[in-house]
Amino acid sequence: MNPFRQEALNVLSRHTGLDPERIDAVLERPPKSELGDFAFPCFQLAKELKKAPPQIAEELAEKIAGELELLTEARALGPYLNLFVNRQEFARSVLHAPNALADGFGNSSEGEGKVIAIDFSSPNIAKPFHVGHLRSTIIGSTLYRIFASLGYKCVGINHLGDWGTQFGKMVCGLKHWGEEKDLEDLDALNALYVRYHEEEEKNPELADEARDWFRRQEEGDPEALELWKKIRETSLDYFKVIYERLSVRFDHYTGESFFNDKMDAVVDRAEELGLTSVSDGAVVIDLEPHGIDTPALLRKADGATLYMTRDLAAAGYRRETYKFDQLLYVVGTAQSLHFRQLFKVIELMGDSWAKNCAHVNFGLVQGMSSRKGNVIYLEELLDEARNRARDYMSANVDKRPELEDEEAVAEAVGIAAIFFSDLSKQRIKDYNFSWERAISFEGDTGPYLMNAHARIAGIIRKCGIEVDPEADVSLLQEPSAHNLVSLVSRYTEALREAARTYEPSILAAYLLDLSRALHSSYKELRVKGEEEKLAGARLLLFAVVKNILAGGMKILGIRPLEKM
Ligand code: ARG
Repeated sequence: MNPFRQEALNVLSRHTGLDPERIDAVLERPPKSELGDFAFPCFQLAKELKKAPPQIAEELAEKIAGELELLTEARALGPYLNLFVNRQEFARSVLHAPNALADGFGNSSEGEGKVIAIDFSSPNIAKPFHVGHLRSTIIGSTLYRIFASLGYKCVGINHLGDWGTQFGKMVCGLKHWGEEKDLEDLDALNALYVRYHEEEEKNPELADEARDWFRRQEEGDPEALELWKKIRETSLDYFKVIYERLSVRFDHYTGESFFNDKMDAVVDRAEELGLTSVSDGAVVIDLEPHGIDTPALLRKADGATLYMTRDLAAAGYRRETYKFDQLLYVVGTAQSLHFRQLFKVIELMGDSWAKNCAHVNFGLVQGMSSRKGNVIYLEELLDEARNRARDYMSANVDKRPELEDEEAVAEAVGIAAIFFSDLSKQRIKDYNFSWERAISFEGDTGPYLMNAHARIAGIIRKCGIEVDPEADVSLLQEPSAHNLVSLVSRYTEALREAARTYEPSILAAYLLDLSRALHSSYKELRVKGEEEKLAGARLLLFAVVKNILAGGMKILGIRPLEKM
């Protein structure tokens, strides 16, 4: 904890008799930095002491005044006691930090030795990406980077949907209406899948045939497996191109098929523990006594396994293999029931680590699908983003610097628009995607952050002096300078809070605040042409802010460019 806050906690604790932790939990930030750096609300004490909060604030201000060192002032403001830091000391402690200009400034090592496994993206092969898979990819990869920046060891897992009855359907479609070469063409495979469903409505017997293909696959029939392997490869090649474009990486592609030989053991164990019953020939676990109305289905009457069976096997495997401290499933809210069932069954099997599993759910997105339905054609979507970004910049940005690679900039802006419009919303909320809103350089967007970063980079590049890490920052007296220093000091807190709540929007909101504060500071904090020492102090401040902004943007999957 920073020593300024620590002093606030100590001094308040001394005079209120409250534990420093309790004070830490209620200590607020005043709405404006002119009003101080910490605000202690006196409402709680009022009840205990039977006095009005403003009176308590007054009395505290008086008592505390003589005991301040790093803090300079205690001022009663209505029911609050506001505390002010010594700005010179504060600026020094933040901007002269040994790594203030280095990569990863503001990261921490608090997660060292802990493992976070994150299951994200996890599309279904032979089917197009769903809007939900894109959200999962964006949120999951960002959480990965947030936790990594706090020192955790992260394990990114793509739990590909590459096993299951849908496969039987695909193969059935292929056998009836497809040809050999379709196996290498994802669009053709999708079309066959769609065709299968249309035909099945007219001819329900097809369902038996499809089931039979999946049964053959689970039993290890060579033809079924060969077809499955080819379809899987075709899909994976396609997904990998997209992941590359989004700079998303996984540590493991252990999809559902990986657990094929690990499922019997799980079902057996559940049976031995007496958890299962047989219902219409299917093996189920009744969860009603545990407050979940729908039973968990482990095996169908024909012996086929299910999504649930594979998830159970996967969870155990991950625990054993990665020894995770937490396992996060970044999957849409629509699957809430599935994960409640899953975690409950894990718990019933006596595995205390059930409590270390979490469903990091998220809401729906409307307005992103490029054709009908929920399906998105990711390549098309990313191309459209790039084209719109290019058009926007040529129409709206005058005085553009010479760029080495305009297309690469447009691509980066397009991706930033998509990522940020997702990450800036609270994840559980549904939202409407709009190109106009996402691409704009004004407003709460990814391109706005990029623009803020490029602008500060330009100022640093053109100011005519070099950044001096030891510049005398006690010269930074202006409110806008203090506001920026204070924001810099809160970066780690934003990361920590985002990690604790699995909520990238906290980091997104922080970076918007920082960019806005930067934007409104330029008039007051000129560098070029100012007296040398003062210019040097401001330049160091800007360089550190730029460093933080860049680090935070990278965590959100946004490229901080020097020019745009
Ligand atoms: N493939 C699934 C789907 O598209 C998502 C998988 C999520 N991860 C998991 N372990 N269940 O719905």
